[in-house]
Amino acid sequence: MTQQRPIVGDVIEVTTEKMAYGGDAVARHEGLVVFVPFAAPGERMRVQITEQKRNFARGSIVELLERADDRRDPPCEHFGICGGCQLQHMSYAAQLEAKSGFVRDAIQRIGGIDWPHPIPVQPSVEFGYRSRAQFKIKSVGRDAGDGPGAPQFRIGFNQASSNSVCDVMFCPVLTNDLNEALAAVRETFHKRPASPRLHEVEAASGSAGFSIQPAIGALPSGSIEVAIGEDKYRIEPGVFFQSNQSMIQQLIETVAGSCKGELAIDLYCGVGLFTVSLARRFSRVIGVESDAAAFRLARKNLVSNNAPNAEAVNQSAEEWARNFSRRQTRRNLSPPGLIVLDPPRTGAAAAIHDVGAIGAAAITYVSCDPTTLARDLRVLVDRGYKLDEVIALDLFPQTYHVETVVKLGLR
Ligand SMILES: C[S@@+](CC[C@H](N)C(=O)[O-])C[C@H]1O[C@@H](n2cnc3c(N)ncnc32)[C@H](O)[C@@H]1O
Repeated sequence: MTQQRPIVGDVIEVTTEKMAYGGDAVARHEGLVVFVPFAAPGERMRVQITEQKRNFARGSIVELLERADDRRDPPCEHFGICGGCQLQHMSYAAQLEAKSGFVRDAIQRIGGIDWPHPIPVQPSVEFGYRSRAQFKIKSVGRDAGDGPGAPQFRIGFNQASSNSVCDVMFCPVLTNDLNEALAAVRETFHKRPASPRLHEVEAASGSAGFSIQPAIGALPSGSIEVAIGEDKYRIEPGVFFQSNQSMIQQLIETVAGSCKGELAIDLYCGVGLFTVSLARRFSRVIGVESDAAAFRLARKNLVSNNAPNAEAVNQSAEEWARNFSRRQTRRNLSPPGLIVLDPPRTGAAAAIHDVGAIGAAAITYVSCDPTTLARDLRVLVDRGYKLDEVIALDLFPQTYHVETVVKLGLR
């Protein structure tokens, strides 16, 4: 007798096997893959099917029959509703193990690359680390009562898989300064709403205080300073900067490490974070950044951190790599000793072929998405590179996100 595939609304019993990138646990039912949010590996449960696709289903826990040792009570009251965190129900050790699995799985399954060595995940402080955030604002009518009533707002983060805003008074992953920013935005809005069309503000905390963009009320806006070791960086809320400042020093060490040489290229350089450190190790460094505001800050940071041998270029990485590779052929230029690339979540598809063609002795790929990383690594491997090191850093505790640094050399 053939088993019927479960349909939406059915309740089935499953045992979860492992975590999948995205933060759901994976179970199998009669060969069908079932993703279960807020479950941990090795748990037996009854789940109700909430979504049915050709190759997989998704279900929500109706009853937990056997609880994993790694399960814990989530510290945040909004967990499960707020879309910010996916893993608070798991011990921190289990989160790190899951993230090592995400990276390994992507490299193997998407990149088709065999990496038989361990993938250590460097831990972070678990809470109070996040120094950049986008606060969502939703008007929800007016106070009931006589007269027009005061406008009411929900201020916080998007709910999981929806555009509804989860009203958050305190977020345990934010730095103290960003929690203050959240409270200050709330107070300002309730006193006098900035604009009914303003649905989000960017917030960043630095070494002291916070900054909001766009400017609202009398809240601090504009650039702020972040001190990393001896160096000081100007950053702005709307411009990319690493959001876990407690791990930046470790990240820089992992990326720049003990390498040295003539020329290093820092593609997708942001405000020049790696560029400054590379300038202490190489005779000449070029940082490439397409965003005008980040480029402007990078130029300032190179000067203020005394890196005269480094320059920032306001260009897309793909354009820079294509031009360099052409000039190399025409003028017989030597390849750089090192190319660092740290693209956004979408990866470096537009640049990666030219990056591979340049033939740098070493490439360090820094990524916050193992799936696009694995796709791009495949291109580099096909161009003659081999993976030398794969290191992960937990820049984003309580979420499914993970930062990976892959060091490659020519075969
Ligand atoms: C993940 S951030 C890395 C920034 C920097 N490495 C750091 O650690 O602070 C990616 C950066 O790439 C920039 N960017 C996005 N697309 C780009 C492109 N096609 N070419 C160059 N830079 C790009 C973004 O503006 C952002 O600053």
